[in-house]
Amino acid sequence: MREFRKQLVPKPKLAVPVSLRTNFFMNKELEIGAGDGEFAVQRAKSCPDSCFIAIEKSRALFNRMRKRYQEQSLPNLWVFHTNAVWWITHFVEEKSLNKIYILYPNIYIKPRQCNLRWFNRPFMAHLLACLKVNGEMEIRTNDRVYYEECKLKMTHYHCIKKVQDLHLEKAPCTAFERKYMAQGQICRSLIYQRVF
Ligand SMILES: C[S@@+](CC[C@H](N)C(=O)[O-])C[C@H]1O[C@@H](n2cnc3c(N)ncnc32)[C@H](O)[C@@H]1O
Repeated sequence: MREFRKQLVPKPKLAVPVSLRTNFFMNKELEIGAGDGEFAVQRAKSCPDSCFIAIEKSRALFNRMRKRYQEQSLPNLWVFHTNAVWWITHFVEEKSLNKIYILYPNIYIKPRQCNLRWFNRPFMAHLLACLKVNGEMEIRTNDRVYYEECKLKMTHYHCIKKVQDLHLEKAPCTAFERKYMAQGQICRSLIYQRVF
């Protein structure tokens, strides 16, 4: 695995409140690729004492997420339109996040793009370092091959252990999850916990 080099990652030109970056006592959750924000809004509503950061790089989806966010006016939800790798690299401190969600990530099906899958990127080591000890990362996918590769590749990171591996059957909580469940596809959730 190549080394992650922070100095090569562009810094997004976004205003980020200092308190969002530095308050280590706050329960902080972050979603990468939040799509239209359905999960982010629900999660922020159900956990008013936590701070939820949702990042989406597609302009069209971000606009939908912002609309939901404005309609709900949740003080504990922060939404950003940017590349999550850039934002996390420059605005997230080590050991500061309680939970990271990556729900139905792009699977990059072409063989030459496999290195873009989250668990194959040098960035994954940096991302895990952003979790607090006992903090968790949840990855959901409908793709069997992605799921199997994820389980295998995540064993290479020694600071985490797998604490959940299940087939989701309850009500869908994202647009993609709803679509896949309606098609009868199996949606799986893997949760990893940082142990040191
Ligand atoms: C398949 S969609 C899933 C969206 C949503 N999580 C859901 O389940 O409905 C994957 C999303 O991740 C976003 N995404 C991919 N890479 C990203 C990155 N580096 N930073 C922010 N968003 C990203 C894409 O724009 C896309 O909206």
